[in-house]
Amino acid sequence: MSAEPHNLDSWRDLPAAQQPDWPDRAELDKVVAELAGLPPLVFAGECDQLKSELAAVARGEAFVLQGGDCAETFAGATADAVRNKLKTLLQMAIVLTYAGRVPIVKIGRMAGQFAKPRSKPTEVRDGVELPAYRGDMVNGFEFTPEARTPDPWRLLRAYHSAAVTLNLCRAFTKGGYADLRQVHAWNQDFVAGSPAGQRYERLAREIDQALAFMRACGADPEEFHTVEFYSSHEALILDYDRALTRIDSRTGQPYDVSAHMVWIGERTRQLDGAHVEFFSRIRNPIGVKLGPSSTPEDALALIEKLNPANEPGRLTFITRMGASKIRDALPILVEKVTASGAQVAWVCDPMHGNTFEAPSGHKTRRLDDVLDEVAGFFEVHHALGTHPGGIHIEFTGDDVTECVGGGHPVVEDDLALRYETACDPRLNRGQSLDLAFRVAELYRSS
Ligand code: PEP
Ligand code: CO
Repeated sequence: MSAEPHNLDSWRDLPAAQQPDWPDRAELDKVVAELAGLPPLVFAGECDQLKSELAAVARGEAFVLQGGDCAETFAGATADAVRNKLKTLLQMAIVLTYAGRVPIVKIGRMAGQFAKPRSKPTEVRDGVELPAYRGDMVNGFEFTPEARTPDPWRLLRAYHSAAVTLNLCRAFTKGGYADLRQVHAWNQDFVAGSPAGQRYERLAREIDQALAFMRACGADPEEFHTVEFYSSHEALILDYDRALTRIDSRTGQPYDVSAHMVWIGERTRQLDGAHVEFFSRIRNPIGVKLGPSSTPEDALALIEKLNPANEPGRLTFITRMGASKIRDALPILVEKVTASGAQVAWVCDPMHGNTFEAPSGHKTRRLDDVLDEVAGFFEVHHALGTHPGGIHIEFTGDDVTECVGGGHPVVEDDLALRYETACDPRLNRGQSLDLAFRVAELYRSS
């Protein structure tokens, strides 16, 4: 695969963290060749449109809502599951738009989020050691040697799963389901009885009245009937994202057309590593996760490498500090980056710094910690006069019991009831709405 003049393979000479140990390189090459011939999942022009919306975020004129599963699964690409996630995202977005009075850029952690970095390469159960589950794109969740052996043909299934998911999302958001006249319809299931659901219903009634007023005035803009929805994932498995990188016929520039936005995770953001190198070559809007050990020098070096032209909307820093650290760790980063003149969007991931193990052994998060990290994020930006640009969360549209707390509280003893995640614990529908109301309040008062 020759990539001159864009040097899309320069990353191959560098250390790439968190890559699977594929048992058969020749099989991988076959899959990659097949992927390279498949149609794009998104168009470069759409990536540019998202970039311009993220530029508005960096200028303080819009707010990002990015979220979805920690790890999507192939089995989870069903009409119901996709619709429920999208519905949750739409409900959260409407709360933020209406109560927060800010345009929302809606980005799913959907249609491609099939690969996971792991803290350990293997997992031991009852004395048996097998490769860790790295997401459906790589191996199976089941704890057997067959399932856990990385299988490159899964890259192809990931592409097809992403395609059906994105197709549904496009149909839902453009085909009438996201019409503002549907604000009540998104709330008609188990969530309707919860405190957050009832609060939402009151807000939806106000929106109805506002819409009736607008229509009576003769205003019925297209924006009320369809929604712009973007896809994103952590571009972890470089062979996959490289195979789906194409030269845009309009501009002659390379885009990773597997998603509108891709991000680099906390574990793969080494400055001299393969991921940063690959990302420096593509023109999508990109994100980089920054954990509590990130230094201003790290942030500035990432900016220099990933956005040397200071193109607005190109680079989003997604901070994931933890509720107890954000107020100490974030200010110096924001201060130094702002002082450098770099234009970045700042987004808060209040999930990944707040994970702990419950006595039952379940990995979980407290909604209160999540809310506290978001509050800290707003406080820091308020104090510095910078813009809190959005949130990045892990949620699902179903009534799972993976995180504790909420207006309809899940307690630690409930965790086993409906613990379904393939990786990290996700907020359920009610908890996601609770969060949206809280963020809207914080936004309005910031
Ligand atoms: C994730 O987003 O699921 C993840 C692994 O995050 P991080 O890279 O911030 O640890
Ligand atoms: Co996660």
